[in-house]
Amino acid sequence: MSKHIVVLAGDGIGPEIVGEAVKVLAAVNEKFGLGITWENQLLGGAAIDAHGVPLPDVTLDAARKADAVLLGAVGGPKWDTIERSIRPERGLLKIRSELNLFANLRPAILYPQLASASSLKPEIVAGLDILIVRELTGGIYFGQPRGVRTLENGERQGFNTDVYSESEIRRIAHVAFQLARQRNKKVLSVDKANVLEVTELWKEITTEVGKEYPDVQLSHMYVDNAAMQLVRAPKQFDVIVTGNLFGDILSDEAAMLTGSIGMLPSASLDQNKKGMYEPCHGSAPDIAGKGVANPLATILSVAMLLRYSFNAEAAAKCIEEAVGKVLDQGLRTPDIYTEGTKKVGTKEMGEAVVAAL
Ligand code: IPM
Ligand code: MG
Repeated sequence: MSKHIVVLAGDGIGPEIVGEAVKVLAAVNEKFGLGITWENQLLGGAAIDAHGVPLPDVTLDAARKADAVLLGAVGGPKWDTIERSIRPERGLLKIRSELNLFANLRPAILYPQLASASSLKPEIVAGLDILIVRELTGGIYFGQPRGVRTLENGERQGFNTDVYSESEIRRIAHVAFQLARQRNKKVLSVDKANVLEVTELWKEITTEVGKEYPDVQLSHMYVDNAAMQLVRAPKQFDVIVTGNLFGDILSDEAAMLTGSIGMLPSASLDQNKKGMYEPCHGSAPDIAGKGVANPLATILSVAMLLRYSFNAEAAAKCIEEAVGKVLDQGLRTPDIYTEGTKKVGTKEMGEAVVAAL
């Protein structure tokens, strides 16, 4: 079976980090005889410049036909003021939605070598291994109506709609429970059920689904408390399942516990485990083109791609171990640099991972 990947480098640091990730992909492809092929397509600002839209049909068609998608990051100040409906981020949201990638897996794992790079005390984060399961194609990100309207008094008013149907909640809850079964068998569902009806339903449905998994311990927490607990005692968590917006916020917070958001990969999966893989961080326009971005989140996203979409566990492990080795060697991009380690750039880091495979 041949396996094909669409690579979307995107904007900002996207091309730099994806460049290194593809080197790693090429090396494991060869080493494990995986028979993977890939092609580049445009998404985000790069696509706007070339085609006038952030998700051109050619990109979407190629992504539909492919077995998996590897993405860098999209967006940047250059496109922040163009017409809202064709901004780079809309391209990202559209491809998630069009490919039905409703399950976003964001593991926050602390590499022991980076314990001192975390903003929390090493004993609070040592051994941290959390999996955030974020619903990705619903909620306030997609709810209608949305927009900015002008009221009768001439004042403008912005509005969005947070909406979840039972089936959407149910399918993401199943993903969380099934993943918890392969881990420590604990699911925390995060809501704001004391205020928002939409999350009251969320809580009700996750509770219902939880009854089908008596071996998994389910608990609930309001999002404000969850945000606090994440920095107070993060190791109490195993799998955290939540809606699109809360998941966006909590995953950035969890990322920081691991030392840097530059370390965190993610997988966005559909019902059949077809997926798009991308780092959790954004396009970081402030450091774009400087050769200093951390490519490890994207490299680790390749490992997730091999594991979830291609069932190539050995190759995935090999990449993860190689990342461990370069950290052991003391190599650090500026975002994870601490005294006594060796500061390297994007390319050096990527090449060190290839060498360590
Ligand atoms: C993420 C990002 C995106 C999101 C942006 C770039 C639209 O923050 O993947 O977490 O909000 O989903
Ligand atoms: Mg985000």
